[in-house]
Amino acid sequence: MSILTRIDVSNVRNLTQVSIQPSSHTNLVVGSNGSGKTSLLEAIHLAAVGRSFRTHNINKVVSKGAEALVVFAEYLLADSVISAVGVERGRGIARFRVNGIDSASIAELARLAPLQVITPDSHQLIELGPRYRRRFVDWGMFHVEQDFFPVWRRFGQAIKQRNAALRQSSASRSEIGVWNQELSACEHRITRLRQSYIAELLPYARDAAESLLGVASLEIKLLPGWAGEKSYECYLERAFSQDLAAGYTRHGPHRADLVISIDGVPTREILSRGEQKLIASALRLSQVKLLQDRLTRNCILLIDDLPSELDVGHRSKFIDYLNQLNCQIFISTTEPKLIGDRLSTVDKLFHVERGRIKEML
Ligand SMILES: Nc1ncnc2c1ncn2[C@@H]1O[C@H](COP(=O)(O)OP(=O)(O)OP(=O)(O)O)[C@@H](O)[C@H]1O
Ligand SMILES: [Mg+2]
Repeated sequence: MSILTRIDVSNVRNLTQVSIQPSSHTNLVVGSNGSGKTSLLEAIHLAAVGRSFRTHNINKVVSKGAEALVVFAEYLLADSVISAVGVERGRGIARFRVNGIDSASIAELARLAPLQVITPDSHQLIELGPRYRRRFVDWGMFHVEQDFFPVWRRFGQAIKQRNAALRQSSASRSEIGVWNQELSACEHRITRLRQSYIAELLPYARDAAESLLGVASLEIKLLPGWAGEKSYECYLERAFSQDLAAGYTRHGPHRADLVISIDGVPTREILSRGEQKLIASALRLSQVKLLQDRLTRNCILLIDDLPSELDVGHRSKFIDYLNQLNCQIFISTTEPKLIGDRLSTVDKLFHVERGRIKEML
């Protein structure tokens, strides 16, 4: 269990100083355009993973004129344990604190509070490059497969070394080859873990796609990021000259991708923008459900601008699906009437106006 019970926000965009105590179930965040709704969700995201979901440039997130942003969050964990997290970020500043101890890692933050985000940009998961889909799988790996993170880190270190060796003009095949074996051992494990996670996720994803979009034939296939040889080690041997010319390891699990298809056709080729958002949402919501079933851990779910891109029928199906998820949800909208009636409960309603937040009864 991880429930956000309190968040204090300083200097996140137009939220110079706000504090809320959310409900453990459904929180509705309402306000006009530019009031600060997305910024509030961004602050919750910052506390959970140390970065924004809107930009990699943290300077854009820090309020104009301020040095750094600070977010302080309290989570209620299992057995009534309370955990406190502090995140401070700005130009050249990245401080993470967990329960009063400085220099916690982002991984430590992220483990404390699994969090999923659905935004009007969610179609990117389907439409844009492999990086988005890798991040999607690896979110599940990180939270569900305890073995993944250490081997992923080992792989990252080995590939850094191999790339550094490739950039030296004197690099020889045998010097580079030293790293191939280690990389191959990691690759084997990473690809196996990703495959087994996807196999486990698939029935959940199909159920969610059916509920949200009426689609029965969803398929998810992992492309491991390299091909053509019996092992990654053999592949790396063969790729030596071309990797040397490129100055880095061109293929491998760091280039993996997913093919997400319906009736055998990749979704990025056929779906409308709204449908892409629905499939991407179905995929993320299925991860939330799998996590609940596998580890009895609930996720914090952020849904920014829920109604965007969705017609009334799909909006209703989306909300009906949320109603049966037992997790802490934050939904933002400019139009509470479009969703409020369909939600089985709204436990707390926050009204945002020009960077100030009021809890309404
Ligand atoms: N670094 C910043 N410093 C101060 N204000 C900022 C900064 N970045 C963005 N803003 C402003 O913060 C305000 C709130 O933005 P936010 O995206 O949270 O609004 P919103 O309520 O989600 O609006 P919408 O309904 O249009 O999505 C906007 O007026 C935006 O221009
Ligand atoms: Mg917004």
